[in-house]
Amino acid sequence: MLFTLAFVILSIFLVRINPEEFEVEFQWSHINFTWESQAKYQEALRTKKYIPENIFPTGLKLHRDRVYLATPKYREGVPVSLSYIPQKPKNKTNVPLVPFPSWSYHADKNCSNLQNVQTLEIDPKGIMWVLDGVRVTTTSCPPKLLQFDLNREGSLIHTFNFPNEVALQNGAYLNDLVLDGDTAYITDASSIDPGLIVYSRSKDRAWKLRDSSMFAEKDGPKFTIDNRPVVVQAPIDGIALSPIGTNRSRNGRIVFYAPLTGYSLFGVSTGAITDEQLYKNGSWRHHISPPIRKQGSTDGMMMDNAGNLYYSLISKNAVGKWNINKPFCRDAKIIYQSKLMVWPDAFGMDDKGYLYVIANRAYNYLDTNVKLNFTSAIKFRIFKYRTGTKSYQYP
Ligand SMILES: *[C@@H]1O[C@H](CO)[C@@H](O)[C@H](O)[C@H]1NC(C)=O
Ligand SMILES: *[C@@H]1O[C@H](CO)[C@@H](O)[C@H](O)[C@H]1NC(C)=O
Ligand SMILES: *[C@@H]1O[C@H](CO)[C@@H](O)[C@H](O)[C@H]1NC(C)=O
Ligand SMILES: *[C@@H]1O[C@H](CO)[C@@H](O)[C@H](O)[C@H]1NC(C)=O
Ligand SMILES: *[C@@H]1O[C@H](CO)[C@@H](O)[C@H](O)[C@H]1NC(C)=O
Ligand SMILES: *[C@@H]1O[C@H](CO)[C@@H](O)[C@H](O)[C@H]1NC(C)=O
Repeated sequence: MLFTLAFVILSIFLVRINPEEFEVEFQWSHINFTWESQAKYQEALRTKKYIPENIFPTGLKLHRDRVYLATPKYREGVPVSLSYIPQKPKNKTNVPLVPFPSWSYHADKNCSNLQNVQTLEIDPKGIMWVLDGVRVTTTSCPPKLLQFDLNREGSLIHTFNFPNEVALQNGAYLNDLVLDGDTAYITDASSIDPGLIVYSRSKDRAWKLRDSSMFAEKDGPKFTIDNRPVVVQAPIDGIALSPIGTNRSRNGRIVFYAPLTGYSLFGVSTGAITDEQLYKNGSWRHHISPPIRKQGSTDGMMMDNAGNLYYSLISKNAVGKWNINKPFCRDAKIIYQSKLMVWPDAFGMDDKGYLYVIANRAYNYLDTNVKLNFTSAIKFRIFKYRTGTKSYQYP
């Protein structure tokens, strides 16, 4: 008892003197929602529309006093794939998710509704860009990108349906996105047709860049999750964009991407991939930088406005950091590593100088051979880390 008390006091002290540490901000043993009524909840349980142990959160972004989360549908029993929680709830364990923009947008059998959202981004004007593009499971509605205006209670302002030659209606796996003004760069982790998609809002058109750097590497890091080996050959997944002010390239900003399986990190200038001439004749490929060898496999990544790239290291339960204005080999380091951080995935930043990262055991949910259990053990955590900077979208 005394020992515990001493430990608690010591921990508080450590947190005070070391604000640079990653701290657990939210945690869940399972995901629940704010149901419209107890009757609706009971019905969802009975009809298996809601199977709590089958749901995991990914896609994390912050805006004003909310944390938005995606809960993609890889198994049955996931009723909603986009929600939010308040940034400062009374109790930070098992906070219920509030469906966004409303329950009705998640109703079945309507391709206008949200089908299967993996991630989102929010631009500085308060427009939320939602990537509804996981088409490896239940739905065969066209993959789409939606814009909701958070200044007007999340009203829908635009929808773009990807044509099949850009993102497969059956087989797309639109995984992550970054925003460059009115342009979005999107990773498609499809096992059939992986690539980097460029979407221009002003042209309302999208095109896809395909290259061998976007495939899984043959010899990726070996690691386990919950004592099971991770056996996966996954292509391009994480994506990050350099901030407006950093000019490593004379050709605009740099889009960083990494295949999930492997060590490599690539960069390509936005000037090269938005130029449709370079795209059509294939010479955009000359603008891909030689691979940088990271410490391990990466899922999510994010840059801040000081030129720091934060990247997850799923094979090491860790997060790495590199300032892209310095050589990788001398600057990059692991800034956090913990048994609690199982599969660090998506990142987000608030406007108060904090970076957030969600660790979600994603692999267990994707590999349907894994039997999931409803238990009180904590499975997902959101960590918070003081950077004193803002997201790459701000000057
Ligand atoms: C989910 O939330 C509802 C409504 O608050 C509650 O009645 C129910 O027990 C919760 N279920 C689980 C599995 O957490
Ligand atoms: C917070 O919520 C968790 C899970 O619902 C519960 O076990 C715990 O007792 C709550 N803590 C407080 C301080 O209310
Ligand atoms: C489909 O969903 C959209 C958007 O939620 C809604 O406006 C429309 O009425 C729905 N259509 C049907 C047939 O339910
Ligand atoms: C960065 O590049 C842009 C366009 O290429 C240029 O206008 C700007 O002056 C450059 N900034 C710096 C700090 O070099
Ligand atoms: C591709 O197009 C660009 C821009 O028009 C041009 O500069 C380049 O020479 C072309 N490359 C090839 C291989 O045709
Ligand atoms: C669920 O429980 C079974 C039986 O105890 C176990 O084999 C399995 O590993 C558990 N699943 C996870 C994801 O821990």
